[in-house]
Amino acid sequence: MTQNPSDRDTTSNGLPATSASKRPTDRIPPDMRSPLAVGSVTIVPPCILAPMEGITDRHYRRLIRSLGGCGLTVTEFVSSEGLTRDARRVKETAEIDQDEHPVAVQIYGSDPARMAESAVRCQQMGADIVDLNLGCPSKSVNQGKSGAYLMREPELAARIFEAVAAAVTVPFTVKMRLGWDDDHRNAPQIAHLAESAGARMVTVHARTRMAMYSGRAQWEAVREVVEAVRIPVVVNGDILTVPDAHRALRASGASGVMAGRGVLRNPWLLLQIAQSLEGTEPFEPALELRHELIVTYLDRRAVGFDRVDVRLGRIKKVLGFLTKGLPWGARLRTSLFRSGSEEELKRNLADYFDRLRRDGRTDAFSASHDER
Ligand SMILES: Cc1cc2nc3c(=O)[nH]c(=O)nc-3n(C[C@H](O)[C@H](O)[C@H](O)COP(=O)(O)O)c2cc1C
Repeated sequence: MTQNPSDRDTTSNGLPATSASKRPTDRIPPDMRSPLAVGSVTIVPPCILAPMEGITDRHYRRLIRSLGGCGLTVTEFVSSEGLTRDARRVKETAEIDQDEHPVAVQIYGSDPARMAESAVRCQQMGADIVDLNLGCPSKSVNQGKSGAYLMREPELAARIFEAVAAAVTVPFTVKMRLGWDDDHRNAPQIAHLAESAGARMVTVHARTRMAMYSGRAQWEAVREVVEAVRIPVVVNGDILTVPDAHRALRASGASGVMAGRGVLRNPWLLLQIAQSLEGTEPFEPALELRHELIVTYLDRRAVGFDRVDVRLGRIKKVLGFLTKGLPWGARLRTSLFRSGSEEELKRNLADYFDRLRRDGRTDAFSASHDER
């Protein structure tokens, strides 16, 4: 691959050094640029890749980590039922590569004993942190009293926190929403229960469960959680750009940011946020680097135990995001979705980027391209 910023020298906090001169960051107070202390784990910079089912497998996590600026990655959520009943696929989801640390494994479930047993398995599999999912809005998950449903059952949530705390030596953290609905915004209460049981960090997706993914994330509402606990609070939801990250931190008073969909579109987002918090000019990838990133992902994803059709399906899903914002992106995606093998995907990508080169395009990344 062409030299990535991550291949160059790094600064004291692990960020790739850029050629841009330093300038003071007066917009964000210093404590919001500090590493996050999560028990024995230090998250530096305080920028986290969000867990995303179907996407943040070890290949994708490593890809984003390799770009720099990512202090922590989190696995897709893993069923505690599956994990403790030895379901092979579920265990694969929790698999961690040796060189990807720190990493959190996220589990969901409603039975305190099973959650505790799962947490132990995650620890044995190499998790640096066990994260508990109290944010998933999916009906099937909520019907099992798991995910965001647990915010309606503070007593059960507390029993889960206590069972997990007693079972593992690695830190545990909790990812939640603002509450079930606008009439029940109890994130401060749940965060307090988590802290009392020993949780070392909470992340808040600044929407209620009933809001699902609609409307705008209410970063300012996370401030009540920040004020309710002493452990680090991470703000999440709708952080799509560097200015969004600054606004979210300022509005919430949180100590770190977590981004999901923004990274899907722009894999360098966490790096850019981290650099901006440091006061350096955010890195802007050239078009060529985007091509290389996609090919790197394809090469890494081409190995694994998945069935070929399952693997191709997942690759195409991720490529669908990685090609967002490219000129004639919709046309490119159509050709990718029709491809029958990894080789064909690569050929189609090479043809596309060749054409952009011939047309002399090097800039070529803009949200407006998607409309064409
Ligand atoms: C495709 C997809 C899958 C997701 N899977 C999970 C998951 O497994 N666990 C979890 O806690 N949140 C999951 N989320 C929620 C994200 O972690 C995050 O909280 C949410 O997308 C809001 O952040 P964003 O606006 O930066 O994407 C998922 C989101 C998406 C889009």
